[in-house]
Amino acid sequence: MTTAQTTTPTLPDFDYSPMPYEGPSRDEVIALRKQHLSPGIITYYKNPVMIVEGKMQYLYDETGRRYLDGFAGIVTVSVGHCHPKVTAACVKQNETLQHTTTIYLNPNICQFAKKLTDQLPGDLSVCYFTNSGSEANDLAIMMARMHTASFDIVALRNAYHGMSPSTMGLTAQSNWKYPVPQGFGIHHAQMPDLLRGPHRADDPKASEKYSNDVLDCIRHSTTGKLAAFIAEPIQGVGGTVDLPEGYLARVYEHTRAHGGLCISDEVQTGFGRTGTKFWGFENHGVMPDIVTMAKGIGNGSPLGAVVTTPEIAATMGQRLHFNTYGGNPVTMAQANATLDVILEDDIQGRALEVGGYLKDGLTKLMSKQA
Ligand SMILES: Cc1ncc(COP(=O)(O)O)c(C=O)c1O
Repeated sequence: MTTAQTTTPTLPDFDYSPMPYEGPSRDEVIALRKQHLSPGIITYYKNPVMIVEGKMQYLYDETGRRYLDGFAGIVTVSVGHCHPKVTAACVKQNETLQHTTTIYLNPNICQFAKKLTDQLPGDLSVCYFTNSGSEANDLAIMMARMHTASFDIVALRNAYHGMSPSTMGLTAQSNWKYPVPQGFGIHHAQMPDLLRGPHRADDPKASEKYSNDVLDCIRHSTTGKLAAFIAEPIQGVGGTVDLPEGYLARVYEHTRAHGGLCISDEVQTGFGRTGTKFWGFENHGVMPDIVTMAKGIGNGSPLGAVVTTPEIAATMGQRLHFNTYGGNPVTMAQANATLDVILEDDIQGRALEVGGYLKDGLTKLMSKQA
């Protein structure tokens, strides 16, 4: 009989000592959480980890134990925990001016809007800043409906677009759907999964068949006139489902042929995370009309954005639109510094290198398990 050999990996040396932790104990935090926080929020692991400090790729628990962070606050901490440049920008802005609202002029929001839209192709040059990815998707859907004067939206099964009342209707995974009215005017087409779906990678027509299902959905479930099609270029929460090659290009054609706008939800795939391109949609050679983003945009700051063309943005001029915190000076300072670091440190190149290494290893494991 052979005994399985287990080796405990050790982390490389790291020249940083966490501060002594002086807050409530882990047990006290668990008790407080149980008593005062909603049971809808969960923790990972039988023994939940308490994180009290972070430094670049590492996290520390209350005992000073160091962890390599492979999670990044759900793919949000794009340039490392407490990156010195990002922290310095936040501290400086916090000491200068914390809040006014967009009713007053402040340079931060305009400077970041310029820097952000410089990273987007074509006519995608007008921003609206929100507090989350869900709020960005809510607004994108409203803009599409107003601009097209149509109501029907096509989204994909297995999508995750948020949990606000209207984005819960876009999201198509039962574990993220509460039993409340939702999704009025939203129709879900087949999840284009080459690994588990009805059309697999060995079928040369799989991509076309999946895109035909969107057409079928438009023809049979909608009025025939679309407001928008929305998709993530890689379904993130749904288990990292990569859309088939050629699929988005065909679906965008079908959408536009029925009067709809194309929305790319880049909340997970934006800011170089796919390694090959800065935006997920660029991997598919398509040009969306509206792009939504959040997470990596601000390295953990509660920030989302909708970026679109001046023509589509003009529809917002029909009424006043306002949110108290969107474009807050501190959030904008954090986002500005984060984007600088993403570009200066070639985070996209790093994602390609490290992500490629992991993907190659996992692909080898997959063929071993098949
Ligand atoms: C692709 C995608 N869109 C939208 C959202 C919603 O973003 P938020 O949680 O900031 O509302 C998420 C969150 O995980 C997401 O992964």
